[in-house]
Amino acid sequence: MKKNLLLLLALLCLMPFSAMGQSRRTVITNGVLWKDTAGNVVQAHGAGFLYQNGLWYMIGEDRGDSWRPDVNMYSSPDLVHWTFVGKIIKNGETTPDLGQRRFIERPKLLYCAKTGQYVVWCHWEGRNYGASEAAVFVSEQVGGPYRLHHAGRPLDIKSRDCNVFQDADGQAYFISTIEENQHLGLFRLSDDYTEALSCNILFAHQSREAPAIARVGDTYYMLSSACTGWDPNQCKLSCSKSLTEGWSPLVNVGDSICYDTQAASILTINGSKQTTYLYVGDRWMDPGLPESKTIIFPVTFGDGKCELHYAERFEIDFETGEWKILD
Ligand code: DGJ
Repeated sequence: MKKNLLLLLALLCLMPFSAMGQSRRTVITNGVLWKDTAGNVVQAHGAGFLYQNGLWYMIGEDRGDSWRPDVNMYSSPDLVHWTFVGKIIKNGETTPDLGQRRFIERPKLLYCAKTGQYVVWCHWEGRNYGASEAAVFVSEQVGGPYRLHHAGRPLDIKSRDCNVFQDADGQAYFISTIEENQHLGLFRLSDDYTEALSCNILFAHQSREAPAIARVGDTYYMLSSACTGWDPNQCKLSCSKSLTEGWSPLVNVGDSICYDTQAASILTINGSKQTTYLYVGDRWMDPGLPESKTIIFPVTFGDGKCELHYAERFEIDFETGEWKILD
């Protein structure tokens, strides 16, 4: 009897969590500086994410050196335990311009199944935000080394704050604040994700930045902010059945300063019981640029509406997708 019990215990220890049908619950705490698994402060602002083989890869600005940010990469199974993968793009090393005439903001990561390459799109800027360019880096391995593919104004259009979106059919887009912060430009990318082929103007003359898109069924939901530098402002929602047209009028969501954040990404957690969306934003200048916090909270979408469930602490089960706010 005792022997059987020991055998059963040994078997349970060897089983992966999922095989046991057990939960993979994690508590996410907001408003604190994250530490990586080596105990160092996580530096990944304006973050972009890629989910592959059970791991979240997060890349972002290393504002440890405020105005010369390298791009750091971390990986995590649960958005809490972050392992530092490395500096995937480095000032003065990846390309001589970087750290001299140009700096990077809002790096975003795509995986192109057609080429097997990892592609980073980012805002590629100069002093006083006058350059208004984008840059593209590629690598055969997720952890790099990444090399510069090209930099400049996409389709000759001035481009600043940016994000990427990969649709269900594999088509990818670069979306950025264009023409001196007047409009958003939705750039359709080439099959290898490295070139902008066309541009649709969205929210003309409405000065939106920090765009982040999620697809829920056949509807696209976009969150964006106004342009107020490092100060937070009202987040607004729009939705459409098509990425290129038909976006609904912008409506306010959350509180008037979006809980002191500006959107960086929206993550999709495909759980066994439900699909959960997580808003990821930056709490800039808290109190300085290097200490800006990454803030995560659940967001629900449906019927053309959305609700931001900001909380200082919430629990999420990565197995089932279920979440709850904690006191
Ligand atoms: C707001 C943008 O979203 C940030 O990425 C950064 O460009 C700041 N403005 C600079 O003021």
